[in-house]
Amino acid sequence: MTIEQLKSKFIEKFGEGEISGYFSPGRVNLIGEHTDYNGGFVFPCALSFGIYCLVRKTNRKTVRFASMDMPFEAEVKLEDLNKPVGKEWVNYPIGVFAQFMKKGLTFGGGADMLFYGDVPTGAGLSSSAALEVCTAVVINDQFGFGIDKIELAKMGQKAEHEFALVNCGIMDQFASAMGKKDHAIFLNCDTLAYELVPVKLEGIKIVISNTNSPHKLDSGKYNERVAECQAAVKAIQPFKQISALGEISWEDFLKVEDKIENKTVRNRARHVVSEIKRTEDAVKELKAGNLVKFGQLMNDSHDSLRDDYEVTGFELDTMVEEGRKIDGVIGTRMTGGGFGGCTVSLVKDEAVDKFISQVGKNYQEKTGLKPVFYVAEIGDGGKKLF
Ligand code: GLA
Repeated sequence: MTIEQLKSKFIEKFGEGEISGYFSPGRVNLIGEHTDYNGGFVFPCALSFGIYCLVRKTNRKTVRFASMDMPFEAEVKLEDLNKPVGKEWVNYPIGVFAQFMKKGLTFGGGADMLFYGDVPTGAGLSSSAALEVCTAVVINDQFGFGIDKIELAKMGQKAEHEFALVNCGIMDQFASAMGKKDHAIFLNCDTLAYELVPVKLEGIKIVISNTNSPHKLDSGKYNERVAECQAAVKAIQPFKQISALGEISWEDFLKVEDKIENKTVRNRARHVVSEIKRTEDAVKELKAGNLVKFGQLMNDSHDSLRDDYEVTGFELDTMVEEGRKIDGVIGTRMTGGGFGGCTVSLVKDEAVDKFISQVGKNYQEKTGLKPVFYVAEIGDGGKKLF
């Protein structure tokens, strides 16, 4: 789909006139999984694919929503832009409008909006965060509110909490808003202090493998993990004053680990605290050019998500196991929320074709699902295109 085609579609739906266009990316997380809502570190990068929005302000007192990907369309009165519409996709943009209304901001006039996504949905690459951040960037710019991008990311996260009922952390919206071409974001999810780290992978590609087994974030498993982490904090509190798992070092955790009586809760905490350390270590290794060590940490991350956090499952584990059999694979792990979705792998240039054909074949034989592979390009965060 080209921008010209999108413009024609917009005109077909909403008529001739001025049109503006915006884009916000999906993300792939290199390491630091299920750490964000624990105040830990993450290391995601924005992708070159994501969500586009074409928009025109109108004098009507409504916002009209349409999508190239979903048949459902809606026209919503300005005063109703904080109320969900059934279980439809428009709840993501509406959830974002609601955040502006909560700040006491008013829109004056209406708008026509046409969305289009080239990021696969339900694949753990943050299509929903891309949609939220794209909407936030559009509203902020079109209505001239002047809100900074980090705040827009937080508003996207709130929309996810309130309208999709997923108690997600800040990673996805932050990456979609703040990403930079050829950089990963080393983000402290407690303070939101961040560093853009150049990802210079000489002779190595980032390959994303989509299991095509939809990740089911809204299935409640995600919120269950969030609750288990809170239970771990409670169990540790009598021995060490913390308010989030991100506040305890790996060394101190080892001293109190045995005090957490519930085994599941103990395992969840072990994943989170070790993953936070792995993420810090991985960033150091990347900066020092030690990609082999970086890859090893990615592998360890997957194993911890599989054994202690239990968010992988047969498809993700099969994809990772098959990937590890290929010479030239430096590291491979699940990425995103888990329970299906994608893996991310560092693969030497000369091994990429073999990786795609062999892992593809073996994965399909074992799971009956046809995977899709993308060689990732790291792109910029949400912005106006024209
Ligand atoms: C989902 C959430 C993020 C993060 C990841 C796991 O993508 O939206 O906030 O928790 O899962 O790292």
